[in-house]
Amino acid sequence: MSVTIKSEREIGLMREAGKILAKTHKELANALKPGMSTWDIDHIGEEIIRSYGCIPSFKNYMGYPASICVSVNSEVVHGIPSKKRILVDGDIVSLDAGVIYKGYHSDAARTHAIGEVSLEAKKLIEVTKQSFFEGIKFAKEGYHLNDISRAIGRYAENFGYGVVRDLVGHGIGRNLHEDPEIPNFSRKRRGVKLQAGMTLAIEPMINEGTFKVVWLGDNWTVVTGDGKLSAHYENTVLITKEEPEILSI
Ligand code: MF3
Ligand code: CO
Repeated sequence: MSVTIKSEREIGLMREAGKILAKTHKELANALKPGMSTWDIDHIGEEIIRSYGCIPSFKNYMGYPASICVSVNSEVVHGIPSKKRILVDGDIVSLDAGVIYKGYHSDAARTHAIGEVSLEAKKLIEVTKQSFFEGIKFAKEGYHLNDISRAIGRYAENFGYGVVRDLVGHGIGRNLHEDPEIPNFSRKRRGVKLQAGMTLAIEPMINEGTFKVVWLGDNWTVVTGDGKLSAHYENTVLITKEEPEILSI
């Protein structure tokens, strides 16, 4: 498959999907509190998504059993919601959600603090978010994909953080995962030339310590190699001739 350019009609639908996803994330953030389980978050998230007439993209995707990926502390991504996993004061939790609106996907992730967290945890969350915004300074027609990747990776590495290499962002549209792959670190190749109408899910996954990650026995949950914290921040972005349009914010 190659990178698709969306029509005005498709962009309109992706705008709607993105708006609904942004609202979902806001409502989920307001619902978070110590004592709730990661299953509760998934349940609430699925209800919100369906209340807007959307389908949760992740549910049953490649066999993933839930609507929201809930990843706590050293879990990087794809944590599986569980009634046994209870959030406590001081945890950080990454929520990754996707919605389908009239056949079009939007994908976004946020990392939140539960109650009072350490200064180190706060900083990791902030830097991860900012690395996304550093990256999208180059999300404009005429730049190359690697300009985005390099900006994200450089920014996070300046803080001594580990930039996850085994998982990447992706094109998005009629499918959750489309070309191109979007690494969060610089590669030798410039990658595709960005063109107005491309829609990209840009998603830095940043670790406090090593960039290395490990898959748990459930074959989904990805954790840091050293047990230190990890944060995730993602939005669906439309490339234009000028500033990028962040669809899921
Ligand atoms: N944002 C994640 C991704 O782009 C969500 C997919 S999780 C899955 O890969 F459960 F749906 F696989
Ligand atoms: Co994604």
